[in-house]
Amino acid sequence: MDSDAYRAVDDYIRGLFAPHDEVLAGIEESMTKASMPKLSVTPNQGKLLYILALLANARRILEVGTLGGYSTVWMARALPDGGRLVSIDRDRDHAEVARKNIERAGLSPKVELRIGEALEILSQMISEGSPPFDMFFIDADKPPYPRYLELALDLSRPGTLIVADNVVRRGAVAGAKSTEPSLAGVQRFNEMLAADTRLAATIVQTVGGKGHDGIAIAVVKPR
Ligand code: SAH
Ligand code: DHB
Ligand code: MG
Repeated sequence: MDSDAYRAVDDYIRGLFAPHDEVLAGIEESMTKASMPKLSVTPNQGKLLYILALLANARRILEVGTLGGYSTVWMARALPDGGRLVSIDRDRDHAEVARKNIERAGLSPKVELRIGEALEILSQMISEGSPPFDMFFIDADKPPYPRYLELALDLSRPGTLIVADNVVRRGAVAGAKSTEPSLAGVQRFNEMLAADTRLAATIVQTVGGKGHDGIAIAVVKPR
């Protein structure tokens, strides 16, 4: 693959559309200091999430997988006054780094961090009769992606946007049906997304900073 060209263009796009930002640079720095895994979305992917949140007119966003709060900050910046983003992570140390980053971004009033197993927290929100969300960003462990989709649909309304990261996995999704749990989870997720008549969905391949991957974008159709 022309990975040098892909990277150069990714940098070019970043320079134009996601230029240096003190808050976002501070998040990257805090994550390096805390030796956190380099799994944040890239700057250009963050900008895409921001645009999608604006397009969705999102007032309520649910994120599965906070890490250092990098994607959280991109999406929360799209919220109007009174808007809310709930982000779930089971790792207390990650959540603590994210909390400080969200504070520094001035977004604490809009962001609620929930620490725990995503499947448990989502199920609890459904049983408590949570109002629907306008946008989901699914970006935690890959084996339960199919369950995350089902639970997100239970917390959706017509018009809700469902976005999921890492659905191409360097092209491996296009190979044989896998038994490796992460790849199998993502393959099943993509098939469910395609087959669900309630949804209009596609996958956009991404190249550049984090290599070859993709982001699934789905909208719940009008009834
Ligand atoms: N969305 C972030 C990156 C998330 S990385 C960004 O782009 O900036 C994935 C995160 O999901 C990690 O912090 C990990 O602790 C969390 N995670 C993984 N499995 C989880 C689970 N079952 N429940 C809750 N959080 C989980
Ligand atoms: C993985 C998870 C991510 O959220 C990501 O962006 C890249 C890779 C992973 O678990 O492999
Ligand atoms: Mg990811």
